[in-house]
Amino acid sequence: MKIVDGVYWVGVADWGLRHFHGFELSTHKGSSYNSYLIKDEKIALIDTVWEPFAEEFLSKLQRVVDLESIDYVIANHGEVDHSGALPALMEKIPEATLVVSPRGEESLRYHYHQDWNFQVVKTGDRISLGRKELVFIEAPMLHWPDSMFTYLTEDNILMSNDAFGMHYASSGLFDDLVDMEEVLREAVKYYANILTPFSRQVVKKIEELKKMEVPVDIIAPSHGIIWRKDPGKIIDLYYRWGRGESQERIIIAYDTMWEATARMAYAIEEGIHEEGIDCRLLPLAVTDRNDVVAEVFQARGLLLGSPTFNRSILPTVAPFLEEVKGLRFQNKLGAAFGSYGWSGEAVSILEKNLKEAGIEVLQEGINVKFQPNQEDLEKCRTFAREFAAEMKKRT
Ligand code: FEO
Repeated sequence: MKIVDGVYWVGVADWGLRHFHGFELSTHKGSSYNSYLIKDEKIALIDTVWEPFAEEFLSKLQRVVDLESIDYVIANHGEVDHSGALPALMEKIPEATLVVSPRGEESLRYHYHQDWNFQVVKTGDRISLGRKELVFIEAPMLHWPDSMFTYLTEDNILMSNDAFGMHYASSGLFDDLVDMEEVLREAVKYYANILTPFSRQVVKKIEELKKMEVPVDIIAPSHGIIWRKDPGKIIDLYYRWGRGESQERIIIAYDTMWEATARMAYAIEEGIHEEGIDCRLLPLAVTDRNDVVAEVFQARGLLLGSPTFNRSILPTVAPFLEEVKGLRFQNKLGAAFGSYGWSGEAVSILEKNLKEAGIEVLQEGINVKFQPNQEDLEKCRTFAREFAAEMKKRT
């Protein structure tokens, strides 16, 4: 598929993909592994695809180019979804130059144990293809230490690998040909679940790009759609996400055994509603964990609930908390609630974990023995009203 004259998308769409990174990340809309072919006096290929698609990829590629005429293969990042087809490709073109960042060489050598013809590049290095040039911009921790962007002069295309992408299979491929609401939902989920821990580096990289004053007409990431109508949109969003901007919304994430914690959650929702703040209830046992992460990422407040179970929290709540601790969200406010039968440790465990996740615990949690009565439910509403009022004050 032509992007502009002399530049082609030669990737593959993975329509059936429902889990990524093993089972770590859900991908409700599939994904794509985008690879780009640039034909000038010299020919360059940017990134490849995941290994199960290697044969399909090479067969597609051969339809648009004689493989032996490829001079440069640029590997912007060593993770296998982009480098998996490299062994099959390089076996056919062993003389081609494999262009990598300094950590990219390390990453590919340890993944594939091959002595390919590596050329290591740093930020600002250029390779002339004839009329156009490739300019390299290291982008460490967006999202691996080896990550790099490749910029194509004349056409002003930024091939940004994982950054600015999303898991989204489409035949439209471009931002003006797809359902943008769906795309943005997947883009924020991608950022929240993958890039959040590296937000400081995201902001720094965008500021660096702005200072460089390179015109960017097209952003071509390695997953999902290509931004050609409005590339500034995703850059602005990344800048805002990177700075920890969120919406005035509270997420109530909880699980329950015999509905006591659920009843508390419903009463808490009523209290928040009375304060006029948007609120979403997400039962953790039946809601996709990555979707919950995306919701929490976009909201200012998190109220977390679990009954006490085996002197701890429910096993359905624990993985979510572990995920949140690793992601290190910014500017979040939280509090905890839960029911118990005999010992009642859950609320204090939730609070401890929220603090470890860098979430400011605004008030003491609320703990109810067995089932809440009317008085308890009113306490839950008051707890929620106080939380919402304090959150409003801080906005
Ligand atoms: Fe970090 Fe899409 O691989």
